[in-house]
Amino acid sequence: MNQTIQKCRAVAVGLALLMAAGLSGSAFAQLGKAPDEPQTRSRAETGATKPCVECHEGFYAITKTKHGVKGDARTPAATGKSITGDPADAMCGACHGDLTEHNKKPRTPGLVPVTFGKKSPAEPQNEACLACHEQGSRIHWKGSKHEQTKQTCASCHRMHASKDPVMVTETQASVCFECHQDRRAELHRMSTHPTKTGFFGCSSCHASHGSTTRASLQKNTVNETCYQCHAQMRGPFLWEHRSAQDDCTNCHNPHGTNNAPMLKTRLPYLCQQCHQDGGNHSSTAFGGKTLPGGANFAANAQRVVGNACTNCHMKIHGSNHPSGARLQR
Ligand code: HEC
Ligand code: HEC
Ligand code: HEC
Ligand code: HEC
Ligand code: HEC
Ligand code: HEC
Ligand code: HEC
Ligand code: HEC
Ligand code: HEC
Ligand code: HEC
Repeated sequence: MNQTIQKCRAVAVGLALLMAAGLSGSAFAQLGKAPDEPQTRSRAETGATKPCVECHEGFYAITKTKHGVKGDARTPAATGKSITGDPADAMCGACHGDLTEHNKKPRTPGLVPVTFGKKSPAEPQNEACLACHEQGSRIHWKGSKHEQTKQTCASCHRMHASKDPVMVTETQASVCFECHQDRRAELHRMSTHPTKTGFFGCSSCHASHGSTTRASLQKNTVNETCYQCHAQMRGPFLWEHRSAQDDCTNCHNPHGTNNAPMLKTRLPYLCQQCHQDGGNHSSTAFGGKTLPGGANFAANAQRVVGNACTNCHMKIHGSNHPSGARLQR
């Protein structure tokens, strides 16, 4: 019994020694290397002159972003090969293309295959990004208004900033305003969503990469988009106001207006855009005699002053009261 144990021990020690010997040198070093470390070719092999950082130091914040995470096998940092011998350069080629020639002759223009300046053509830029990002919300990118009008990923995204401003709620709108100045104006009107204070961004309602809905909304309809946060307007109502169930933008401009609460037009004009056929009291609000100073003003004032029509029709989005057919309760 004892002898067998001793034999076993001897074999085990022998094996361990053998393994250590076999793994010494390069093989051992390779085992110690993290598997996701980028493979590098020596500078002599590629004819590269200097690491990119010597000339482009300002662009290295990218190594601290998600694209620089070497432990994530899908990132440019993990998949790229360095041509300069500096592991930090391995990622550059994933977006800018093969930079071997540029690195040899940095001052010769035109040797960087993919550049992201405003004057650079859109397609190669977008293809470089879509190579990894075709999935997710980008399935609607092709055919979207932004794609059709030759915007690029870099129109909105900043890859070399340590924080991409369009991904941060507080700063997102300012990126969109570079092109959508009319929206900037609307957002500074009296009655607005708290977008300008950074409470939520344009992307709460809009899918920037495109969608199947008009105005690239996040949901299938305008109303579904609004119900995300205004669930109380969804109903079902016993008595619905058909125009509200149809489309919130019949009455509201969700970017902002000067008629609180974000109404497109002042009351009662707003209502009278749709309710003005004869025989209906709603059409008489601004008959000559009913205006201030007119003989019938007193009798009609409640349709004009204060909340005008909603003085009485206060359940304007719909009513659940058994006798709320006229949206009064
Ligand atoms: C010896 C200095 C030097 C080295 C090394 C160098 N570059 Fe450049 N790079 C330049 C110069 C100069 C330009 C041209 C700048 C300009 O036109 O404004 C440039 C331009 C670029 C551009 C933008 C091209 C454009 O027209 O917008 C990219 C991207 C770039 N380099 C990436 C790299 C990468 C990646 C490496 C390493 C593989 C690298 N560079 C190595 C000097 C260098
Ligand atoms: C994830 C894709 C991506 C990677 C990886 C990447 N870049 Fe860029 N690079 C861009 C984009 C997009 C721009 C446009 C400006 C911005 O987004 O900040 C740009 C701009 C530049 C510019 C300015 C000239 C231009 O084309 O506008 C230089 C220089 C540059 N990058 C160098 C580098 C270097 C060096 C590396 C490697 C350390 C690198 N880039 C890695 C996407 C990338
Ligand atoms: C080699 C593949 C690859 C390429 C090329 C690439 N990306 Fe990425 N990107 C990734 C991976 C992986 C992530 C991390 C995803 C995650 O964490 O879920 C990422 C993350 C992002 C994010 C989210 C960042 C965050 O902070 O949440 C944005 C935005 C992005 N990429 C835009 C771009 C743009 C724009 C380009 C082209 C200029 C580009 N990417 C090129 C692989 C790539
Ligand atoms: C009109 C501006 C705009 C353009 C153009 C744009 N993006 Fe975005 N992107 C955004 C915004 C805003 C977000 C944040 C989305 C959110 O919060 O729902 C985002 C998020 C992302 C993300 C991270 C979230 C996710 O869905 O995985 C990736 C990756 C991304 N964009 C890639 C791209 C690529 C690739 C392109 C070019 C084909 C592109 N973007 C073009 C505005 C834009
Ligand atoms: C570089 C310019 C540019 C930037 C930045 C930009 N857009 Fe656009 N956007 C356009 C252009 C051009 C159109 C098409 C013409 C139009 O409708 O005004 C458009 C159209 C749209 C549309 C209408 C889409 C449709 O399907 O009808 C929406 C919504 C939109 N952008 C939202 C945004 C948001 C949100 C951002 C910021 C995250 C943004 N845009 C950033 C240029 C830009
Ligand atoms: C509360 C939801 C909401 C927010 C937040 C929002 N939008 Fe909109 N946006 C809409 C709706 C709904 C429409 C469709 C209006 C219509 O068709 O009458 C729209 C339409 C648009 C259009 C297209 C207009 C057209 O004529 O086709 C653009 C561009 C746009 N929005 C940009 C922005 C930008 C930029 C931001 C951020 C500053 C933003 N939106 C924030 C809901 C929103
Ligand atoms: C991301 C959540 C969100 C979405 C989506 C959203 N809203 Fe809002 N909405 C808010 C918040 C938050 C307020 C502010 C409430 C407050 O100030 O008390 C608000 C306020 C309002 C107000 C009243 C403003 C006031 O001055 O009292 C109106 C009207 C309104 N939203 C309409 C809409 C419409 C129409 C849509 C769809 C196009 C929509 N909202 C989509 C969050 C949202
Ligand atoms: C027929 C016009 C009309 C339509 C359509 C409409 N609203 Fe309104 N909404 C109003 C009026 C008028 C007020 C102000 C009510 C008041 O002063 O009592 C208002 C007020 C609001 C308010 C703020 C006050 C509150 O009750 O919380 C929100 C939020 C709102 N609407 C969201 C929506 C949403 C979401 C939709 C789409 C489902 C919608 N509205 C459709 C006319 C409309
Ligand atoms: C975009 C058009 C539109 C606007 C604007 C509008 N409505 Fe309506 N309203 C309708 C429609 C359509 C009906 C349903 C009529 C029907 O069923 O015969 C309706 C029904 C009503 C009813 C119930 C009457 C009934 O016979 O069922 C009242 C009350 C009403 N609206 C009041 C208002 C008030 C007050 C406003 C202004 C805040 C307003 N409406 C704005 C389209 C509109
Ligand atoms: C003083 C309260 C009051 C005010 C203010 C008021 N209404 Fe009415 N409204 C009523 C009553 C009560 C009915 C129900 C009449 C009936 O059933 O015979 C009604 C009915 C309606 C109807 C249903 C069709 C009809 O004639 O029966 C519509 C539409 C309507 N009002 C729209 C409006 C509009 C638009 C305004 C603003 C210009 C307005 N109302 C202001 C009390 C008011």
